[in-house]
Amino acid sequence: MITDEGDTMSTKSDIPPPPGEKISTGIYSFMDTVAGEAEEYAANHTSPMSSLLEEIERFTLNNTPYPSMLTGRVQGRFLQLVVQLSGARDIVDVGTFTGYSALAMAEALPPGGRILTIEHNPEHAGIAQDFFDRSAGRDKITLCRGEALEILKTLPDGQTDLVFIDADKQNYIAYYEESMRIVRDGGLILADNALWYGRIFDPQDDESRAIADFNERVNTDDRSEKLFLTIRDGIYLIRKTAVPDK
Ligand SMILES: C[S@@+](CC[C@H](N)C(=O)[O-])C[C@H]1O[C@@H](n2cnc3c(N)ncnc32)[C@H](O)[C@@H]1O
Repeated sequence: MITDEGDTMSTKSDIPPPPGEKISTGIYSFMDTVAGEAEEYAANHTSPMSSLLEEIERFTLNNTPYPSMLTGRVQGRFLQLVVQLSGARDIVDVGTFTGYSALAMAEALPPGGRILTIEHNPEHAGIAQDFFDRSAGRDKITLCRGEALEILKTLPDGQTDLVFIDADKQNYIAYYEESMRIVRDGGLILADNALWYGRIFDPQDDESRAIADFNERVNTDDRSEKLFLTIRDGIYLIRKTAVPDK
């Protein structure tokens, strides 16, 4: 069982708010999202994931205190479809946890595609790497251990096709700005937890304010087109457009 005690690098912002009542369908469990029942229904009407991804989900549910941090079947399938439809070949995954989103996107990559996934918690990184080592797509995945913002800053301008942001909420605006720098024109940024359990409607704490501020920043940014999706806990889907002439 993972506990916070062995995790010297963990911060409180790694940990989502108490998940509330869980809805279980077989191995799938869902946080008490804005529409938990609809999420369960959606999962039951979505193609199953690979056996390794289902194993990661089971492992995470049984061995970690915050399994709701894992994206799961519906978001995983959605990420895979976005990768396939966009033709993305070069992906950055911010916040690895036990490896689910990284492996889901890696499975959807064409030959020669690659994904860099970033995690600062050594225990999470160790679990994810063990799963990656067992996957057929292991050569496509590079796990980078360290602070996400520092690592993003080392990446070159305009070379990335897609960034999935799913780490500490207080840094979402900073992750967005770095992502806008590293993605090519027409590239995509997806930010998870954009609804933040509905707390963005009346933010009362730092994380809720950070997500609400992030959503406003994105919404008023003329460098991108955006679509706010209410899938699970909300995904902000953003497409970088060419900088408008002044
Ligand atoms: C919500 S989980 C990611 C879930 C993952 N995308 C999935 O599909 O299962 C967030 C992860 O980001 C990591 N994290 C939080 N802050 C970070 C930071 N500043 N740098 C790197 N990783 C961070 C946490 O340790 C945690 O494992």
